[in-house]
Amino acid sequence: MTTNSPTNQYTFGMIGLGTMGRNLLLNMADHDFAVAGYDKNPAQSELLEKDGAGKIVKGFTELEPFIKSLKTPRSIMMLVPAGKIVDSVIAELVPLLDKGDIIIDGGNSHFTDTTRRDGELARQGFHFFGMGISGGEEGARHGPSMMPGGDKEAYQVVEPVLTAVSAKVNGDPCVTYIGPGASGHFVKMVHNGIEYAIMQLLAETYEVMRKGLKMSNAEMHDVFSGWNAGRLQSFLLEVTADIFAYTEPGASDILLDGIKDEAKSKGTGKWTSQIAMDLVTPVSAIDSAVSMRDLSKYKTERVEASKLYDTEYAGLDVDKDAFLIELEQAYYFAMIVAYAQGMHLLHSASTQYGYDLNLESISKIWRGGCIIRSTFLETMMEAYGTNPDLKHLLLSPAVSDIINETQPGIRSVVGAAVASGIALPTYATALSYFDAFRSADMPANLIQAQRDYFGAHTFERIGQDGVFHAQWQGDQAQP
Ligand code: 6PG
Repeated sequence: MTTNSPTNQYTFGMIGLGTMGRNLLLNMADHDFAVAGYDKNPAQSELLEKDGAGKIVKGFTELEPFIKSLKTPRSIMMLVPAGKIVDSVIAELVPLLDKGDIIIDGGNSHFTDTTRRDGELARQGFHFFGMGISGGEEGARHGPSMMPGGDKEAYQVVEPVLTAVSAKVNGDPCVTYIGPGASGHFVKMVHNGIEYAIMQLLAETYEVMRKGLKMSNAEMHDVFSGWNAGRLQSFLLEVTADIFAYTEPGASDILLDGIKDEAKSKGTGKWTSQIAMDLVTPVSAIDSAVSMRDLSKYKTERVEASKLYDTEYAGLDVDKDAFLIELEQAYYFAMIVAYAQGMHLLHSASTQYGYDLNLESISKIWRGGCIIRSTFLETMMEAYGTNPDLKHLLLSPAVSDIINETQPGIRSVVGAAVASGIALPTYATALSYFDAFRSADMPANLIQAQRDYFGAHTFERIGQDGVFHAQWQGDQAQP
C-alpha cells in the first residue's frame, strides 16, 4: 500500500488483486515490468506487495492514486467477476482516464457485453480490449494463453507485456492479436465450450471404465497416465490421471470417491451452445456436455429413477485389454470432433461477425498455457496452416487419416456401452455428428416434405430451380 503517491511510473496496472490478478501482475514483475495493482481490500494489496518483494510492484487501495501512478497512455487490466461489476468498475475508471488509455477486461465476460462496452468506450476516446485468459492460477503466474481482441493499433502498446508473460511453446508466445471488437472474448468462450466437451468425454470414459470394465481408481490412473504419454497427451488428461491417485494429507481414501456427483458451471459452455444455435453451426459435443452437467444437478430425481429402473451394470462382455485399445481410439476420435465443432463455430463467427479470425494462429496459441492444450493442436495448427480457408477441420486430409484410423474404436465402444446401459452421450453424439457430416445425402428431404405437408412451407426439387408446394393428400394417384 502507499501513502506517498508516485506519478507516471508504472507500465501496467491491474484492477482486482484476487488469485488471477495478483499472479498475472507478479508474472509481469518477473519480466522486469514495473507494475501497480488496485484492490479495495487492503489485505489483497498487502499480499501483492509481500509476494512481489524485491520486484517493482506497488499495491493501492484507492483508485485515483493508482491511476496517476501509471505511465501514459495507460494500460489497465480488470480481473474482476464478469457481469455488472465490470460495468461499475468502468464507470468509476472513466472519469480518471485520458483519451487514448487502454482498458483490458481479462475476465470471462459475455462477448455481447464486450461489444457494447467497446462501442461505448470508443465513443469516449478509450481503447477497450476483451481478452480471454486461460490457464488458471498456475497459468497466470507462470504463463497463460491469452486471446486479446480490440483495436489493432492499441495492441502494439500492450503487446510487449503480454508476449513476455504468456506461455511459450518452442519459443512461440501463446498470445496473438485475435481481431476487432469482442473477438477475443468470443474465442475464449469457444475455448471453454471445447473444454466442457473434453471434460465430459473424460467423465464418460471414467464411467465406461468403472461400470463397464469394473476398473479401480489405481487402474484408471495407470491407463490415463499411459494415454497421456502418447498421442492423446493433454493438460486435461494429465489432470484427470492425477485425480485418480489423489488422497488428502492424512487420508487413505481417494478424494474423488467422496465428491458429490453434481457439476457446477459459470456459463461459458452454455453461452457457446446458445450462440452456436444462433450462428446455425452445430456443436453437439458441447451441447451434450452442458446438458450432462445440468442433468447431474437432478440428484433426487436420479436416485428415485435408479430405484424404478434396473441399474445393475453387469459389466461389458469384452476382452479388457483389447477394449482399452478401442477406448483410446474412441477418445481420440471424439476429442477431435469436439475441437472440430468449436473451430467450425469460430469459422462461422469469423464471417458473420467480421472477426476475420486466423484459425492457425488460434490453434498455435492454444498449444500452451491454456486448459485445452494438447499434442493434437500441433496437427490442428498444421491443418489450418496448410489450408487457411479450411471450412471444417474434418475436411483436412491429416485429420481424416486419424479419424479413419480411430473410427472402428469409437463404433465398438459406443455400441458396447449402449448395449449394456452405460450413458456416454457425448461419445455417441460425436460419432453421429461425424456420420451425418460425412453423408452426401441426409434425410432432410423428408423434413422438407413433412413441413410442406402440414404447413405448406414449400420445398426445393433436385435439379429444378424454384420452390414447390404439393397437395400431399389430394394430388397423388392412389395405389
Ligand atoms: C480457463 C478456464 C477458466 C475456468 C472456467 C471454469 O481457461 O482457464 O476455462 O476460465 O476454469 O471458467 O468454467 P466453469 O466454472 O463454467 O466450469
